[in-house]
Amino acid sequence: MPRLSRQFLITSAIAAIIAIPAMAHIERSEPLQSLRQSYFAIIGMTFGPMGDMVKGKIEWNDEQFAAWADDLASVSEVTVERGFVPGSDKGKTRAKPAIWENPEDFAQKLANFRSEAAALSVAAKSGDKAAAIEQFKKTGGACKACHDNYKSRDYLY
Ligand code: HEC
Repeated sequence: MPRLSRQFLITSAIAAIIAIPAMAHIERSEPLQSLRQSYFAIIGMTFGPMGDMVKGKIEWNDEQFAAWADDLASVSEVTVERGFVPGSDKGKTRAKPAIWENPEDFAQKLANFRSEAAALSVAAKSGDKAAAIEQFKKTGGACKACHDNYKSRDYLY
C-alpha cells in the first residue's frame, strides 16, 4: 500500500475513535438494547469520520466521503425498530422512556434521518463538495432532532 494512503487510513481510524465517546454495551442477556446500541455505534463510527473531513481535520477525499455516505445510508436501513419494541425500555441504556411514550414521533424522526442519509449518499456522489457538506449538516440535524428528545447523555440505569 502506498505510504500516503496508509497514513490516511491510520489518521481516519484514530479520528473515528476520538470522535465517538460512546461505546455500545453488548450483553447476551439484553439483546434488544445491545442491538440498538450496536446500530447507533456503527452509525456514529461512519458519521464521525465524515465530520472530521467536513471540519478539515482529515483531508477531503470525494471518493472516501461518498463511500462513507453510502455506508451510512445502507446501515440506516437496518431494522433498528426491533430494539425499540414495547417492553424493551430496559437494560443499560441511554434511550429515554419518552421513546416508548411517543412511538409515532420517534418513528417519524427515524424516517427523517433515513431520508436525509439517503439524500447525503446522492449528494456525496454528485461531485459537488458544497452540496455534500450542506446535506451532511442536514443529516446531522436529523441525529440531533432525535437525540435532543430521546437520548440521554449518560446511561439511565
Ligand atoms: C430516531 C432517533 C435517533 C436518530 C435519528 C439518531 N440517533 Fe443516535 N441514538 C438514539 C438513541 C435512542 C440512542 C441510545 C440507545 C441506547 O443507549 O440504548 C442513540 C445512541 C447513539 C450513540 C451511542 C451508541 C452506543 O455506543 O451506545 C451514538 C454514537 C449515536 N447515537 C450517534 C448518532 C448519529 C451520528 C446519528 C445521525 C447520523 C444518530 N445517532 C441518529 C437515537 C437516535
